[in-house]
Amino acid sequence: MMSKLMDWVDARFPATKMLEDHLTKYYAPRNFNFFYFFGSLALLVLVNQIVTGVWLTMSYTPSAEQAFASVEYIMRDVEYGWILRYLHSTGASAFFVVVYLHMFRGLLYGSYQKPRELVWIFGMLIYLMLMAEAFMGYLLPWGQMSYWGAQVIISLFGAIPVVGDALTQWIRGDYLISGITLNRFFALHVVALPIVILGLVVLHILALHEVGSNNPDGVDIKKKKDENGVPLDGIAFHPYYTVKDIVGVVVFLFIFCFVVFFFPEMGGYFLEKPNFEAANPFKTPEHIAPVWYFTPFYAILRAVPDKLLGVVAMGAAIAVLFVLPWLDRSPVKSMRYKGWLSKIWLVVFCISFVILGVLGVLAPTPGRTLLSQVCTFLYFAYFILMPFYTRMEKTKPVPERVTG
Ligand code: HEM
Repeated sequence: MMSKLMDWVDARFPATKMLEDHLTKYYAPRNFNFFYFFGSLALLVLVNQIVTGVWLTMSYTPSAEQAFASVEYIMRDVEYGWILRYLHSTGASAFFVVVYLHMFRGLLYGSYQKPRELVWIFGMLIYLMLMAEAFMGYLLPWGQMSYWGAQVIISLFGAIPVVGDALTQWIRGDYLISGITLNRFFALHVVALPIVILGLVVLHILALHEVGSNNPDGVDIKKKKDENGVPLDGIAFHPYYTVKDIVGVVVFLFIFCFVVFFFPEMGGYFLEKPNFEAANPFKTPEHIAPVWYFTPFYAILRAVPDKLLGVVAMGAAIAVLFVLPWLDRSPVKSMRYKGWLSKIWLVVFCISFVILGVLGVLAPTPGRTLLSQVCTFLYFAYFILMPFYTRMEKTKPVPERVTG
């Protein structure tokens, strides 16, 4: 009965072919480690954001007069509203934790290198859209930090010569941030950007499955196949990695639920304290800082004394990641076989990124500004010097087959 139904469907839609191509006959390297959990976890968080977001939208009112009160209403009166909101707000931070670890894996194992350049570029476009999505979502509760955070970021566009002022007005749709801005951010956050992100995720995975996954050894498993054309070091994604990913999902959900139930504000990092006060255009909060996942770039912006150059540096810090596949000239992919210079620079880059993240939260002092300038310099040096140190250093021989 079942197989007849499948035959009927297959004659009209490539259901079995798609399942085989992407799951049961998609052969992934057998040596995936901890870092390979984060792609499927990113998918999980994406689904969480969409489902909880749809339900929040049912009770949220996108107007300057009612937005703040409607969030309070969700928290206090709507059945299970509090859990929907905390799942969504914690999910936003979890998304960035997972995506940063996912990107770090790419750096560690050279997953952006040929032939996976497009996988990386689609990933970077997702990251860019994710930042826009989080930024616009943050305005919706219409708290003090929503208002003033958006004020700071939108006013950055004012630094662009000639068109700056007109551009900020065009983004806001008004002379200052108002209900009009809230309405357009709502439309983009709830409809437009989720569609774009979903589309990009499909492209990201299609591009990956076209060339096949990389692995911690950076060995091309397609080079050694058995008589049936199956890679000797490959295992079917389903059932092997679907089951393994479930283990990652369970561990992740333990940690995630712990935060949702016990630390949803995370000491003011996931939900900032000033945001429990309604937006007031006449009262600037003492200290404005974006949410933690933006702070490394915010610190780069503040490290440069000139506003326009600061904006350029911040933009360049993200843009340079797009060209990463062409900066790495190493003959090997994985950090396991790269030389000392690559290893040291990756460590320096990660430490600088974290320090910038911490500095972006804190109020600036002369000492902190100097430190942020040093870290900004090291951040860019990692990329700019990459074509040189990846070519100069001595690499280790890559094994024929995957290890471990
Ligand atoms: C919504 C966000 C994202 C989702 C749902 C997602 C999903 C996935 C999935 C399911 C995989 C295959 C499993 C794995 O290798 O972990 C993958 C691989 C990959 N992703 Fe993402 N991704 C996202 C964002 C990003 C970003 C921001 C980047 C980098 C800029 C990126 C770069 C990569 C790379 C290079 C691979 C191939 C890794 C390898 O084969 O070693 N992804 N992604």
